Amino acid sequence: MPEPEGDKRRVAVLISGRGSNMKAIVEQANGYEVALVASNKPLAPGLAWAREKAIPTWTWDSQGMDKDVWEGALQQSLEDHRIGTIALAGFMRILSPEFTRRWAGRVVNIHPSLLPKYRGLDTHKRAIEAGDPVSGCSVHLVTEELDSGEVLAQAEVPILPGDSEATLEARVLEAEHQLYPKALAEFVGR
Ligand code: GRF
Repeated sequence: MPEPEGDKRRVAVLISGRGSNMKAIVEQANGYEVALVASNKPLAPGLAWAREKAIPTWTWDSQGMDKDVWEGALQQSLEDHRIGTIALAGFMRILSPEFTRRWAGRVVNIHPSLLPKYRGLDTHKRAIEAGDPVSGCSVHLVTEELDSGEVLAQAEVPILPGDSEATLEARVLEAEHQLYPKALAEFVGR
């Protein structure tokens, strides 16, 4: 398969839900442009917000779909919009090894833990249960192995006595909104 030929500064943000990180990336854009918001969930609230802002959107329900077909359609949209960088932001679908290889070095993600700690789900619960004094978030390159690519930036957040999963999540999410746009700006500029 040919290498993607888009412009690195033209970013597609992939979401599956509320899209608060996507909003932060749009609102704090610096050195990049969010040229597409794409989703595997047609009813994702973040999509409606992007449409209101007149940002091009693409969506196709991935449920029950053949991954190759779905990713082929996404790829076409990425090419149509000359996308060079993909930012995953609460995108709850694992990309195929083929897609990931095709976009190697051009896909970033935000993960709500201090990687390499707590790859996968339930990060806040696991950090609290482990008695960690600190948690945080990481922006990393996406590779074939889940949450394992090069870490580009991290922010630490204290875990306070009495924290629940929800209170810790809210505190980490605030840090995500600060970290992700800055890390993305650095990434497209490097
Ligand atoms: C964030 O916690 C992010 O770290 C994780 O999924 C959540 C997405 O939230 N990957 P939002 O859709 O950006 O509000």
